[in-house]
Amino acid sequence: MRAKLVLGNWKMNGGVASAEALLAAVREGAAGLAGVQVGVCPPFPYLGLAAARLSGSRVTWGAQDVCEHDDGAFTGGVSARMLADLGCTHVLVGHSERRTLFGDTDEVVVRKAARVLAAGLVPVVCVGETRTERESGATEAVLARQVDAVCAMLAPAGERCVLAYEPVWAIGTGLTATPQQAQDAHAFIRSRLAAGGVAAAPRLQLLYGGSVKPSNAAELFSRPDVDGGLIGGASLVAADFLAILGAAAHRG
Ligand code: PGA
Repeated sequence: MRAKLVLGNWKMNGGVASAEALLAAVREGAAGLAGVQVGVCPPFPYLGLAAARLSGSRVTWGAQDVCEHDDGAFTGGVSARMLADLGCTHVLVGHSERRTLFGDTDEVVVRKAARVLAAGLVPVVCVGETRTERESGATEAVLARQVDAVCAMLAPAGERCVLAYEPVWAIGTGLTATPQQAQDAHAFIRSRLAAGGVAAAPRLQLLYGGSVKPSNAAELFSRPDVDGGLIGGASLVAADFLAILGAAAHRG
């Protein structure tokens, strides 16, 4: 049985005061929940704050991106080793905003995920199709390309990886994949990982992301291959994020 995992992706939002308030609310609200792993991914400047405020709680914290290099002259870069030093557990790689706005290719995504694994952290590799790709029937071909890219790297260490299916057309749009669309994509991703030599595929947590809200979380999480969620906008509102955590926890 795979444990449920819900991660909040704060993106580039908030300031010190709102980060303090959100960390405190999530820490307190998550304390009473069983059966769900919880994490938040604040912007880089607030990771130290997360480390301090979440210490000793059941809430972990992660980063939204990482440099593909280890150390050296990479101005502005943050290495996986630095994140590990700080106590991060998860690192998002290949989020569609990084792919489309910052030019992260499949090759860059693989290099970043490899750094994350080498640092002893869990990469959360994000995949997903655009609206045009879905409408032209190319969803599986796109997912296959993105998943195949990471298979070779994951095959020996796949146990420590999470994949997030985030259809680009559902991110921040209010449009959510139906539970069946999510389940179909997750089942496809899992079978593709297995076919690519990732023996741990049946045990990997696959998260759904894209306009998850308190009103649709329980139904999405009830599908057999949906092991939790990567939550954007709703993770910035403590009550909404806690309600989504509750939906995952109740599924037991
Ligand atoms: P959303 O974002 O929940 O605001 O759609 C999800 C994500 O981008 O991770």
